[in-house]
Parts: sequence; structure tokens; C-alpha cells
Amino acid sequence: MKLFGASEIEGNNLKIAGLEARYLAENFGTPLYVMDEKLIIDKCREYYKAFRVREDNNRVAYAGKAFLTLEMCRLIDREGLCLDVVSAGELYTAYKAGFNMEKIYFHGNNKTEEEIELGVKLGVGRFIVDNLWEMKKINEFAEKYRKVQNIYLRITPGIEAHTHDYIKTGQIDSKFGFAPVDNIIMDAVKSSLDLSNLRLAGLHCHIGSQIFDNEPFADAAEIMLKLIKEIKQETGHEIGELNLGGGFGIYYSEGDNPKDISYYCQTILDRVNKVCKELLLKKPILTIEPGRSIVANAGTTLYKVGSIKEIPNIRKYIAVDGGMTDNIRPALYNAKYEAIIANKANEPFDDLVTVVGKCCESGDVLIRDIKLQKAESGDILAVTSTGAYGFSMANGYNKNLRPAVVFVRDGEAKVVVKRQSFEELLLNEI
Ligand code: LLP
Repeated sequence: MKLFGASEIEGNNLKIAGLEARYLAENFGTPLYVMDEKLIIDKCREYYKAFRVREDNNRVAYAGKAFLTLEMCRLIDREGLCLDVVSAGELYTAYKAGFNMEKIYFHGNNKTEEEIELGVKLGVGRFIVDNLWEMKKINEFAEKYRKVQNIYLRITPGIEAHTHDYIKTGQIDSKFGFAPVDNIIMDAVKSSLDLSNLRLAGLHCHIGSQIFDNEPFADAAEIMLKLIKEIKQETGHEIGELNLGGGFGIYYSEGDNPKDISYYCQTILDRVNKVCKELLLKKPILTIEPGRSIVANAGTTLYKVGSIKEIPNIRKYIAVDGGMTDNIRPALYNAKYEAIIANKANEPFDDLVTVVGKCCESGDVLIRDIKLQKAESGDILAVTSTGAYGFSMANGYNKNLRPAVVFVRDGEAKVVVKRQSFEELLLNEI
């Protein structure tokens, strides 16, 4: 069981950033997403420093899909990071938070016309173009709004990273981007150069998510630099920016061995320098897009234990008041998490149990076969490292109400997302 940031055990209680989990649960209700704000800030700063944002004019764009709220946008802005969005909803969140639109990268394999128009109108800095249809639409809207829109082309570099199939994206057979097959990429480059309201500023790739190895990132960078060189030779167009995506792995449970942020960054920067020298290429402005590794370890979900059921010699089930509605990852990817009974933090972890949610679905298992302290109804269960893709993938199954989100720092808690109410549940129903 690993704790991160300002989480610690004091007496028999788990504390997060100076506040007892029990206190947070009592005051803000359960299930509750608790985010250690300082840890998020620390991660932003680690990336900022390691990727030489100030020195080399590189950029770190936080991937908002991992966890995005108005408050998170403000935090990212304060830390000098850019932002990657993938929908009008994420874009609108950033816009309402006052985020500088120039620092936005707009992704998506099927942006709708409405999304494209909104992006152009609001002035997003860079569209990551996924296909030719989108390219033409961006050009049309840029013309309508009398702009020249900066774009990147999303390339699938053909890297097979070792991760879950659903979160693998760099391979050639993918729904994302332009594949290095026949002349697809060069044709897309030429098309973009022919469209007068577009400026081909960069290339983009993203090889997948929750990747522990550092080499695939450097390999992808090398492939992309060679492509930049080829494009220059064939069209004369110089591409000055390169976005290498996100995907840096984090610790969820025993057996996960992520490397330090600085190690991933340095491997990429070293390879880029080396290859640029070899190819006699001007080093492009680099961007990376970490999402999970900025927020995952900062998040803890607090639940209240309800029913406990033991089937002799088979299994003991501990049921909590949330589940696949607030964290779909175990059901969807077989993701593993660690947990602790927050109000019995010092007691031995010697009861083998399976933690399940309250949804009407047998697959609603949060943690299979975990050793926990002996649980009783009313205890507070804390599941750690839930800060990424929990809140953002939350769903409304069974009409369970969406949990609140609190940021905690130095013993102070602030609600950044209120718990959904019954009235809000039915807000759009007629
Ligand atoms: N950039 C692009 C273009 C991406 O597609 C993604 C993630 C990221 C950056 C951020 O990757 P990260 O650093 O967070 O690994 N729902 C899945 C993860 C899907 C990731 C999709 N793209 C999960 O819960 O594991």
C-alpha cells in the first residue's frame, strides 16, 4: 500500500493534506473525490522543469481528459502549462475558466462541425488534425472568421507500446490520425499546404497510455523527426513544432514501476538532440501532453462501507456506496487499485476481501482479492490513485448521483465540484 503527496497515517487515521479522511467524508459526504492540490502542482512543476519549458521554449500541455474542472484549468494556467482538449465541452470549460485559448491544443478523431467552428471562433492555438474531412472544415471556418489557423497533423508512428489494447493508440491500425501507409501522410501534408487559411505548424503523435518504458517515446520522436526531414525535402515546408503526446505510466498498485518524470523527459530530449544533429535539422519546439501522471496519484476516492457479505470458503464481499459509476476503470480495463480503511489505518491488513460497488452489475468490482483491515459497516474506505480518468469517465448508471470533488491543501478543503442533487439529476428531463 503506497501513499502519495501529503497523504499520511496519523494514529489510526488516514490523513490527506492535513485533513482526516473521516472528517472529509463526514463533511462532504461519500463517495467523494479528494484531490491533493499540492501534489498536482508539484507534478506540473516537475514536468515544467524536466521538459525545459523555460530554457528551450518547449511546452507541456496537460491532457484535460484525465480530469478537468474549472478549478483545474485555473491551476494549469497558473503553472504555465498549456491544455489539450478533445471536445467542445472541455474547450468550453477552459474558456469559462478564462484559460488563454492560444495555449490550447484541440484534439479528436471526429470533431463535429459545431466543435470546429467553436474552436476557430474562440481562437484555439492549434488544431490537431486527424483526417482530411476535418482539415477542409477547419479551413472553411478559418476563412469564415478571416483567420489563418495553426494546425498539426496527427500521425500514427507505428509504435506498439506495452499497455492495455483499449488505450494503445500509436499502432498503424488505429482510428486515430494519418498512417504511414502508401502516400497518406505526404498527401495530407500537401493538402494542408494548399489550403490558404491553414498553417501547417507541427506534427503530433501519441503512442498510448500508462506506458512504463521510456524508449518507445524516444523512438516515436525519432520517427517523427525523420518525417519532418522528409517533408522538408519533398515540399520545402519546414515544420517547427512537434507534439509527442502523453502516456507516461504511474503507480496504481504493487508491480507498477514507473520511472521518474525527469527520466522520461530527459530520454526524449536527448534523443531529439541526437537525431536533429544527425539529420541536420533545426530542433522543433517540443510539446508533451501528460494527463494521468499529473493527477492520478493526487486523487483518493472515499467511500462508506455498507453491506458486508461472506460466502464461507468462497469470498467475502465489502460493498461501498459508489463503484463503476465513479470509477469505471476496473470494469473496463481490469485496472488494479490499492485501498485502506481510513479510520483503521494502523490495524493489520489481514482480511482478504473483494470490494464491490452498488451498481446493478456483477462486473461492478472495484478491487478483487485485496487484504484490508477488518471492515465494518460505516467504515470509510479510501481507494488511492484515483485522480485520473475516474471523475472524467464517471457515468450515471442506475441514476446514482455524481460525487463531489474537493481539493485539499495544508489542512484546508475546498469544494470544486458540488455533489449532484436529485433536482440536477432530472434537470433535462421533460
Ligand atoms: N494526448 C493524447 C492525444 C491522448 O490521446 C491522451 C490519452 C493523452 C495525451 C494523455 O495520456 P495520459 O498521459 O493521461 O496517459 N481512459 C483511459 C486512458 C485513455 C487515454 C486516452 N488518451 C484510462 O483510464 O486508462
